[in-house]
Amino acid sequence: MSRIAYVNGQYLPHRMAHVHIEDRGYQFADGVYEVVTVSSGKLIDEAGHLDRLWRSLGELKIAAPMKREPLKFVMREVIRRNSIFDGIIYMQVTRGVAPRDHPFPDNTAPALVMTAKRLSIPKAAKKAEEGVSVITLPDIRWARRDIKSVSLLPNILAKQEAKDKGAYEAFMVDDAGMVTEGSSTNAWIVDQDGKIITRETSNSILAGITRAALLRELEEKGLEVEIRNFSVDELQNAREVFLTSSTSYVLPVVKVDDHVIGNGHPGSISLNLRGIYQDFMTSGS
Ligand code: PDD
Repeated sequence: MSRIAYVNGQYLPHRMAHVHIEDRGYQFADGVYEVVTVSSGKLIDEAGHLDRLWRSLGELKIAAPMKREPLKFVMREVIRRNSIFDGIIYMQVTRGVAPRDHPFPDNTAPALVMTAKRLSIPKAAKKAEEGVSVITLPDIRWARRDIKSVSLLPNILAKQEAKDKGAYEAFMVDDAGMVTEGSSTNAWIVDQDGKIITRETSNSILAGITRAALLRELEEKGLEVEIRNFSVDELQNAREVFLTSSTSYVLPVVKVDDHVIGNGHPGSISLNLRGIYQDFMTSGS
């Protein structure tokens, strides 16, 4: 069965799905995106993702390509036409097509592309059972990391460096030596006293939807979390480390640079939190 993409009003097989060469997303990375988890056929935290999409669009003064309800319909249609049970939806909105010129074009409609892809649950479970390794790198991104922009060059360079070093993710570090986030994930630690710590949201990181859902679940369960910056030193010497994202859920980290975390196996708190998040996906959204 061929994969189906939604492109500016049409559902097309991938091989026939194209965007214009003067799409500003292609020429300027002038656009934003969202990745939404599909779990057992359900969209996870759809409202949170749509709120963030609208916020990103607003920050860049890009018009919404359609109202929220029709967009929700397209998302469901993309899931249905691709027979996705467990996977993700990728959606991207750019400022549209116009002759190349830096200022915003007048009267140009935004362009919307949506694709969907299956994720392998057994593969993800194996990764979580074993834990993953991360490296740390200087954060060389711009000052508006809160906007989910398709401009991801520093992120892909960081992810490639992690891959080249046999790691799953790169955690980026600001000029003050504090961890910002992963190249496509949010970073968390559990300190030696068992306290769960994650950085506060600001313009320095993306406000992860998975991070927010986990924080809500932890609050409901009365589990304490400290929302504050943490240093590379704290990261490397943490009792546990884990990361969150729409594609990784809650994923234990067992090695940071050359430092083995705990006994080199996923920690009990990280695994418990992964379970809590999975319960949320099953029942909560
Ligand atoms: N990435 N930080 C960055 C820089 C991200 O790109 C992402 C998501 C996150 C986690 O956000 P969320 O929990 O809302 O997925 C944090 C997506 C998955 C991606 O680029 O593929």
